[in-house]
Amino acid sequence: MAGEKLVLVSPNCRDLEIKGAEIDIKVFPDGENYIRIPEDCTNRDVVLFHRCYPDQDKSLIQLFLAIYQINEMHATKITAVVPYLAYARQDKRFLDGEAVSSHIIYGMLKTPGCDELVTLDCHFLKETGTFKYNGIRIVNLTMAEELLKYLKPKCKDPLVISPDEGARYLVEKEKDAGVMKKVRGTYKTVDGSSFREVEVHSMEFDVKDRDVIIIDDIISTGGTMIKAVKACKEHGANDVYCAATHGLFLKGSLDELYRVGAKEVVCSDSIPGRASKVQIKNVMSSIL
Ligand code: R5P
Repeated sequence: MAGEKLVLVSPNCRDLEIKGAEIDIKVFPDGENYIRIPEDCTNRDVVLFHRCYPDQDKSLIQLFLAIYQINEMHATKITAVVPYLAYARQDKRFLDGEAVSSHIIYGMLKTPGCDELVTLDCHFLKETGTFKYNGIRIVNLTMAEELLKYLKPKCKDPLVISPDEGARYLVEKEKDAGVMKKVRGTYKTVDGSSFREVEVHSMEFDVKDRDVIIIDDIISTGGTMIKAVKACKEHGANDVYCAATHGLFLKGSLDELYRVGAKEVVCSDSIPGRASKVQIKNVMSSIL
């Protein structure tokens, strides 16, 4: 039987203005986490909002501790709402011996008692809906409609493009859409961080004299989006707009996107920042 609902909000989600009780998270002098759940969770269906970026490792530990404690307080169901899933990008083993981190980390949420994980445009799911992933139920929602609703009024009859196959589901509902082909190189390590550069971006549709919106799940190093903007410009596109649910903008990539000719870059506030012009609140609250 479903319990009465209790919404808990981590301090790192305060800006979302979700109605609920704030949990107590502090950090001890040695850097370890202190967690306290200030509400009675007995026989309640608990929904906990918590961000796992930045400081992925620390915030994941906070999430595990909070869920464990909520479970010990006899909640009937525990739903973790994590707007951007950290460790979602290594979802395959490319070389023997590699840890498939998404599988490991999200499987680990079962142990403290998480029943369900709700997130946005999860990198390894690549479609919306409810999925079973290493024993945990994941509900993957999308920000595509909200991002496009923000950008479309600024454009003239735009063509909506995904920069690779993985983001195809973000443009599928559009009647005027295209999917670029992307090829990445092999891993290289620079200054201790490993990444694969985008080597080729090609398209089999015409962008000449068109306003274009390129939409993706994430802009991380910006390699994908920068190459996609350049390709559109080289093929004669008019104004090129960039949208992504999650904007990490590593390596100064937000400025670089404007430098290579993007008219505007917009993200959601799943990760708050300079380009976060679209709120996740309504989409995330749809599960309450
Ligand atoms: C790839 O499959 C994703 O949809 C993104 O295109 C990618 O993760 C973006 O990463 P970056 O900004 O580093 O190219």
